[in-house]
Formats: sequence, structure tokens, C-alpha cells
Amino acid sequence: MEEISEKLSSLRQEYGNKELDKSNLNNDPISQFKVWLDEAIEIDANEPNAMAISTISKENKPRSRYVLFKDLVNDEIIFHTHYESPKAIEILANPNISGIFYWPEIHRQIRFEGTCKKAPAKVSDAYFNSRPRGGQLSAIVSRQSKVIKNRKEIEEKINILDKKYENLKIERPENWGGFSINISYWEFWQGRDNRTHDRFSYSKQDNNWKIERLSP
Ligand SMILES: Cc1cc2nc3c(=O)[nH]c(=O)nc-3n(C[C@H](O)[C@H](O)[C@H](O)COP(=O)(O)O)c2cc1C
Repeated sequence: MEEISEKLSSLRQEYGNKELDKSNLNNDPISQFKVWLDEAIEIDANEPNAMAISTISKENKPRSRYVLFKDLVNDEIIFHTHYESPKAIEILANPNISGIFYWPEIHRQIRFEGTCKKAPAKVSDAYFNSRPRGGQLSAIVSRQSKVIKNRKEIEEKINILDKKYENLKIERPENWGGFSINISYWEFWQGRDNRTHDRFSYSKQDNNWKIERLSP
């Protein structure tokens, strides 16, 4: 069997020539983020709102996982999860967070750093109410990231709950909801041919954004 290193060395992606220049960058990173996300949606990128976020455990270990970006509220990035999940416990103990979007179809990456807190209850309620019923039931039943015996255990709980709530509105449980990320550092990466990628960072300084070009 071909060694993995040989397979990897034969992979060589060129990134095209979409240009990123200070003159076509927005002064505000949120507007720039919206432009790029819109373009990713327009070209039908796969799960364009998936972002990996990293938190710090109480043992000081960085831990990453994907979540779905669901809204912008007061220029903060919202995602939803279980409030008793490892990520939630980590955020509540240490609000520092970083995250990353990658849209390979257009050779773009956005990286961010900031602090995270629970989103207002009305934001969580509005999203929970918009979820399909199956998603609402599984949010109630799942004790996210706990070890379970088998899949049947969850399916049986969902079936019982489904009957219990027949014809009833399902309210958001208190242990499930949104988090909101206030971003103080953004970085936009546009892949270019021959690894001469364009990169720009936005750092918040006294309520203004300082924009700098970074070496690829
Ligand atoms: C594309 C993608 C999107 C996901 N979106 C979410 C999400 O929005 N919320 C969530 O709680 N988990 C989401 N997950 C699952 C998480 O990656 C993770 O497995 C789970 O939240 C448990 O993480 P934790 O143990 O670090 O708390 C997603 C996974 C993938 C692959």
C-alpha cells in the first residue's frame, strides 16, 4: 500500500488568482466577513456556516470542534449548543475562544479570536423555536458528550418525549441555548498561486480596527 507520505506529497493544490488588497477590503471586519460568507453561500460551498472553535479546558488544554454559525447579533457571532457540554463548561470557566471558517471552493479562510458568553435568552428561544421538532427533541434528550451504551438509548428517550409532547409546543430547555462571540481579532486569508497568499488582519485598538497585511 502506498505510504501516506507519498500520497500527501502528490497532493498539490493551486489556489487561483482571486486578489485581496487593502483597497478592496472593508474598513469593518464584520462587513468583510458578511461579504465572504455571502459569496461562499452564493457558490454553494459545502456547509458554508460551519466553523471550528477552540476553547481551553481547565487542565489548560486547547480543544476544538465544529459548530454552526447561526446569526450575528450586535456584531457578535452566535452559535447554539448544550450548556452542560464540555465546550460550554470550558467557555463559562474561561471565555477566551478562537475560531476558523474555511471555504476550500474559493480558497478562503477567516480566523478570529475573542471572548464568549451566553447569548440573550430571547436569541436562544427564537432559534430553538425555529428548529425542526426532531432537533428540539434531541436537544432535550441529549446529554452532549456523555458516554452512552448505544444509539437505542437516545432513540427510546426521543420516542417517549415525542409522545409526551404530542400536539404541544416544545419549550427550549434551560440547559440548551446560544453563545455569543465578541471578536477582537480577525484574519482574512485568500489563497493565491505559488503560495503567495494574501492575508490581512484586523486588530481592535481603542474601538478602531487596525488593518495590516501579513506575510503568507
Ligand atoms: C459541521 C458540524 C457542525 C456542528 N454544529 C454543531 C453545533 O452547532 N452545535 C453543537 O453543539 N455541536 C455541533 N457539532 C458537533 C460538535 O462538533 C461536537 O461534536 C459537539 O458539540 C460536542 O462538543 P464538546 O464535547 O466539545 O462540547 C457540529 C459538528 C459538525 C461536524
